[in-house]
Amino acid sequence: MAYLPLRALTEDRPHGALADAWLDGLAGALSDPSTDRSLLCRRTLTDLVYPAYAENWETAVNDPALPAGLRLALASLDPREVTLEPEYYAECDEAKFARVKPLLWLWYSFDRTPLGGQNVDLGVRLRRLLAPYIFKRCGENFKAFQHVEFSFGYNMDVGDNFVVHRHVLLDDRGGILVGNNVSVSDYANVYSHTHSIVDQKDVTDAVTILEDNVRITYHATVLAGVRVACNGMVGALAVATKDVRPYHVYVGIPAKSIRVKPNAPHDAQNVCLPLSRDRG
Ligand SMILES: CC(C)(COP(=O)(O)OP(=O)(O)OC[C@H]1O[C@@H](n2cnc3c(N)ncnc32)[C@H](O)[C@@H]1OP(=O)(O)O)[C@@H](O)C(=O)NCCC(=O)NCCS
Repeated sequence: MAYLPLRALTEDRPHGALADAWLDGLAGALSDPSTDRSLLCRRTLTDLVYPAYAENWETAVNDPALPAGLRLALASLDPREVTLEPEYYAECDEAKFARVKPLLWLWYSFDRTPLGGQNVDLGVRLRRLLAPYIFKRCGENFKAFQHVEFSFGYNMDVGDNFVVHRHVLLDDRGGILVGNNVSVSDYANVYSHTHSIVDQKDVTDAVTILEDNVRITYHATVLAGVRVACNGMVGALAVATKDVRPYHVYVGIPAKSIRVKPNAPHDAQNVCLPLSRDRG
């Protein structure tokens, strides 16, 4: 294998300062506790997708002369006008979700705009700005690519240098606890709730834990309540149904250990102390 660290790109985008100004405006609004987050989300999205209506959103939405589809599209930029799936969950904490819903709607909607989507630098910076206002805890250097989804968002407890790649589902319904230097690759799923095989309405929430230096690789799934111990790895397409031992590489369905990493210390089982933030 070749050693291929990420390249550093030169900062020569002709209008790069526009991104700084836009993000600074959002950062200022978010840091002000009196900001109405629904209005902030609405205004931000209207600027991006229907700028002609940015100054007169209210009038346009209520204008019967405009096509119903246009009025609906405009209305839907306000998070109070849409429902998100987790709102239907019985254990949804309405007060907590009301705080984060506008920011989740902004996050998801941005990813579907021409401005967002594949735009790595801007998207990473926006999500890094939003995450601390959504998560229970968010460490330094959080990095998320496009089309990441959460359940509640407010049950995410995340350490430093957490990297989440494209199209990842982080179902934090029962809570997801993430250590430092963890990465989750494209199209992976991490769950923290499960259903009875008899009655679908019988739901069990269980905290899922990804300890320090864990890697969940492409298209893998980690089921509710699983602990992936430090330096553990879940291989491509694997389904981790049970705990993953420290420094072990698990593959397959159900995931089983195929090897211990060559850098594992002799007493790997003992070097991984539970995360200090571990609720277990
Ligand atoms: C888990 C992984 C790293 C294992 O790599 P490895 O240690 O080099 O393992 P090997 O390729 O020697 O495979 C060992 C055995 O496991 C099998 N295997 C490897 N990965 C597998 C997978 N994802 N699912 C099922 N079986 C797998 C191999 O077929 C081989 O079986 P065999 O002994 O019967 O021939 C790798 O296969 C993988 O899934 N990589 C995902 C991509 C990646 O690297 N992501 C990290 C950055 S995002």
